Amino acid sequence: MNLIVAVDSEWGIGCRDRLLISIRADLRNFARLTKGKTVIYGSRTLETFPNKEPLKGRRNIILSRKPDYKVENAEIARSVDEALALLSDEAPSDVFVIGGGSIYGQFLPYCDCCYITKIDKSFEKDTFFKNIDEDDTFRLVYRSSLRFSDSETDDLGGVGYFFTKYRRISHETDKKGE
Ligand SMILES: NC(=O)c1ccc[n+]([C@@H]2O[C@H](COP(=O)([O-])OP(=O)(O)OC[C@H]3O[C@@H](n4cnc5c(N)ncnc54)[C@H](OP(=O)(O)O)[C@@H]3O)[C@@H](O)[C@H]2O)c1
Repeated sequence: MNLIVAVDSEWGIGCRDRLLISIRADLRNFARLTKGKTVIYGSRTLETFPNKEPLKGRRNIILSRKPDYKVENAEIARSVDEALALLSDEAPSDVFVIGGGSIYGQFLPYCDCCYITKIDKSFEKDTFFKNIDEDDTFRLVYRSSLRFSDSETDDLGGVGYFFTKYRRISHETDKKGE
């Protein structure tokens, strides 16, 4: 299973149910990696999507504990085990955990590969991803060059960011990175 997240310089990922910054090139990278795949996320993350609708062109699995929770064009899982059962026929490499904070925390133990966009700035935040650099079961296998956000297309211009990929050490047979 894969995970994809954008973190600020202190591993923050969100504030008041919003992303910290929207960078078009990062959203494009997210789309490139997840199109045609299965995405898993929490009910609060759904609320942050355009029109609060599931992502098109992907199989959507949303976690909620509410017994009557229903979303058109999505499957609902009421526990981590229920989500894992829905994935039993999927190749792990075709599954992406896409947030938010509570779902990343619960699914990281099942993930072999984390695509992490690192944003070189600290924002106000209330939701975090674990500092995976302090987790010796994961290893950095790829780091892109430093790029900068563009005020024409992004929330804010001139903010440095780069793409990284981490692999669980026991699953390092493919060391090519990306
Ligand atoms: N930077 C990034 O890449 C990124 C990506 C995604 C999201 N985010 C940010 O993350 C924040 C949202 O994160 P969050 O932690 O508040 O919410 P979340 O993880 O998106 O969703 C939490 C909800 O998921 C459901 N849930 C959690 N664990 C469950 C379980 N074991 N079984 C069944 N349902 C479960 C519950 O829904 P019910 O309340 O319906 O029961 C819970 O309230 C926002 O600020 C968002 O913008 C950032």
